Amino acid sequence: MSKILLSQVTLDFPIYGANTRSLKKSLVSLVTGGTIAQENHITFVRALENICLELSSGDTVGLIGHNGAGKSTLLRVLSKIYTPSIGKVKIKGRISSLLDLNLGIDLESTGYENIVLSGLLRGLSRKDIEVRKKTIAEFSELGDYLAMPIRTYSQGMQLRLAFSIATSFSPEILLLDEVMGVGDAPFMEKSKQRMSELVAESDIVVFSSHSNDLIRKFCKKALWLEKGHVKAFGLVDEVLAAYDTLKNHG
Ligand SMILES: Nc1ncnc2c1ncn2[C@@H]1O[C@H](COP(=O)(O)OP(=O)(O)O)[C@@H](O)[C@H]1O
Ligand SMILES: [Mg+2]
Repeated sequence: MSKILLSQVTLDFPIYGANTRSLKKSLVSLVTGGTIAQENHITFVRALENICLELSSGDTVGLIGHNGAGKSTLLRVLSKIYTPSIGKVKIKGRISSLLDLNLGIDLESTGYENIVLSGLLRGLSRKDIEVRKKTIAEFSELGDYLAMPIRTYSQGMQLRLAFSIATSFSPEILLLDEVMGVGDAPFMEKSKQRMSELVAESDIVVFSSHSNDLIRKFCKKALWLEKGHVKAFGLVDEVLAAYDTLKNHG
């Protein structure tokens, strides 16, 4: 039984070197991004504000909202990369996340070495890792490139490897950030297939996407963020309908 519990989570990024004077003029008209504020002469961006969220086994949640609404930040809080400035995060369940292509991938190491590294980071035994290595290599279709350092890979190739690694572990909690839109068409098809399997295997899924189709395909619920606030949270069709209405008329 997995669980995610966020109570009154607020996350601030202090900004050093911001030009305070020119900031003030533009504050009013922001439509995108977290709120820029000042306290004790420190400028900060409030990326998330007072987020309360309770998810349990069976919940599949699509994160929607404009650029800068806080989707990636929220996913990073859920994967414990960021600790909130205020509020509490409680998570029960093994997490696998694909949030950032470069995160956890060492550019100087080869594809194979990175596969092993990711397994060790997840606490797998050498034996388990060997078994997975083959599956990951096959899925990625990177062939001999797996023996080359990652820095020789194109963006698309890096995505293939990162996706293959992240989805090779059956997590209890699966977190994905905008990953499905990248990569070539055949790999995307394959990724969708793999996603379907993973979603079925996982207890809780949270993923952000600009594609309503993908959100509908994989999620029963949707969480709409606006400037770091929860604008709506509920059944996917209802939230998407409200979001689209605002996008088209607002
Ligand atoms: N490392 C950072 N430093 C400062 N501000 C950040 C940082 N990461 C994100 N932000 C700000 O936090 C807000 C939310 O960003 P993000 O979570 O990336 O939004 P989204 O993923 O919805 O596009 C934005 O205003 C962005 O400028
Ligand atoms: Mg983002």
